Amino acid sequence: MSASVQQVAAVIVLAAGGGTRMRSKRSKLLHEVCGRSLLSYAVTAASALEPAHLVVVVGHQREQVVAHLAEIAPYAEQAVQEEQKGTGHAVQCGLAGLTELVGEVVVTYGDVPLLTGDTLSDLVAEHRVSANALTVLTAVVDDPTGYGRIVREGGDVARIVEQRDATDEERQIREINSGIYVFDADVLRGGLAELTTDNEQGELYLTDVLRYAKARGARVGAHLIADTWQTEGVNDRVQLAAMSNELNRRILDRWMRAGVTVIDPTSTWVEDSVDLAEDVTLLPNTMLKGATSVASGATIGPDTMLTDVEIGEGATVTRCQGSLSVIGAGATVGPYSYLRPGTELGINGKIGGFVETKNAKIGDGAKVPHLSYCGDAILGEGVNIGAGTIFANYDGVTKSTTRVGAQSFVGSNSVLVAPVIIADGAYVAAGSAVTDDVDPGELAIARGRQRNIPGWVASRRAGTKTDAAAAAALGHQTSAE
Ligand code: UD1
Ligand code: CA
Repeated sequence: MSASVQQVAAVIVLAAGGGTRMRSKRSKLLHEVCGRSLLSYAVTAASALEPAHLVVVVGHQREQVVAHLAEIAPYAEQAVQEEQKGTGHAVQCGLAGLTELVGEVVVTYGDVPLLTGDTLSDLVAEHRVSANALTVLTAVVDDPTGYGRIVREGGDVARIVEQRDATDEERQIREINSGIYVFDADVLRGGLAELTTDNEQGELYLTDVLRYAKARGARVGAHLIADTWQTEGVNDRVQLAAMSNELNRRILDRWMRAGVTVIDPTSTWVEDSVDLAEDVTLLPNTMLKGATSVASGATIGPDTMLTDVEIGEGATVTRCQGSLSVIGAGATVGPYSYLRPGTELGINGKIGGFVETKNAKIGDGAKVPHLSYCGDAILGEGVNIGAGTIFANYDGVTKSTTRVGAQSFVGSNSVLVAPVIIADGAYVAAGSAVTDDVDPGELAIARGRQRNIPGWVASRRAGTKTDAAAAAALGHQTSAE
């Protein structure tokens, strides 16, 4: 069936329930699967239907839910269900503000993260093709315990019976009610008006609208989907992890089919928002998050976590943690590098082992290879920063910038005290503490001059092994002359 856009009158997302099994101070709907909240998946799927009204029914911990909604879907309308008196009551609350509504009303849950917009579109398409007044999304599952069962007669949906109200025979049925439906608005309103609490739980059951529709001779149908994950809700953190694994597996499958090598899909995590090119290789224990993008031929990992990092063609990033950074084509990063926001490494540049960078523009072919802190820095093309160099960017009050011009060379174990400018084509001697600018072509030496005191060991460390070694060495020298 086509997965084209289906404009509907309203989608009502039920999100008022307690979520007590999460055992969390945070609303269940804000818990995340692959970097996004449960609720954001529900809103994304609902939005695919381009509803005139997208209503989220909130209740438990609703301050949190409302605040989150304002961030992720400011266009969503909210309806409050003060007390949770059942799914039928929740939809009554959702519809309360939409008295004039005509057309199709879709009901979904806020805690079913793998449900896609395409599935909802297919559900609506089925509803239209069959000219139904009510179409329910169903799935056949191995263990239907706890779900409402779809009771069919002559192949048609006759009724939905809750686990607690079901006979032993009905409990054998493995086709379950997902809780996701399309209703004709008039039938829904009529059915909701007649709900009673005459059931095992004393709740207002949305499922009873089906009985109302049937009694009026309206058409009721089901849309059965094979992908049972799409109908599963999250109730506890075990299910949360299972969903995350499944969604991640699906994302990685998609990338592998698009030409990405994933050495170990079980230890590789790629959020849906990430973009990967053909011939990217992901090594084990790699997490790619946010707006991260990786260009063709790049290799990432092992043991790497990147958030909002742009990686150029053919770059190599090994054992690295990075965020809000740009890595140029052909550049190498790692092992054990920490790239903080504002790091921009040029083409064929290098950030090496035990190097931390922050707000650092490192030019094409420039290298910071070993054991350095490089913060608030602008490095020209081809610069070489010696091992152990520290960019001292903070005087305890303000942060200042250091510039190192093109092709300049900073000797090992230097400290560059910002603000300071080292021009193009300059040298800094190893072990320097640079506080003054260095001009083109100059060598800066900023350290104590070396002084050697002959005979010091013999006079101050007489009788030690060092003294003996010195004597032997000097004797040897003497005899060799
Ligand atoms: C409901 C269905 C059941 C179906 C199952 C699928 C009814 C009577 N039963 O079961 O047939 O198999 O979903 O998961 O509809 N909610 C509210 N307010 C309420 C009650 C629920 O917002 O007063 C929300 C919950 O937050 C949750 C969803 O509705 O997201 C489903 O509620 P839950 O209690 O899990 O479903 P059941 O009623 O057990
Ligand atoms: Ca040092």
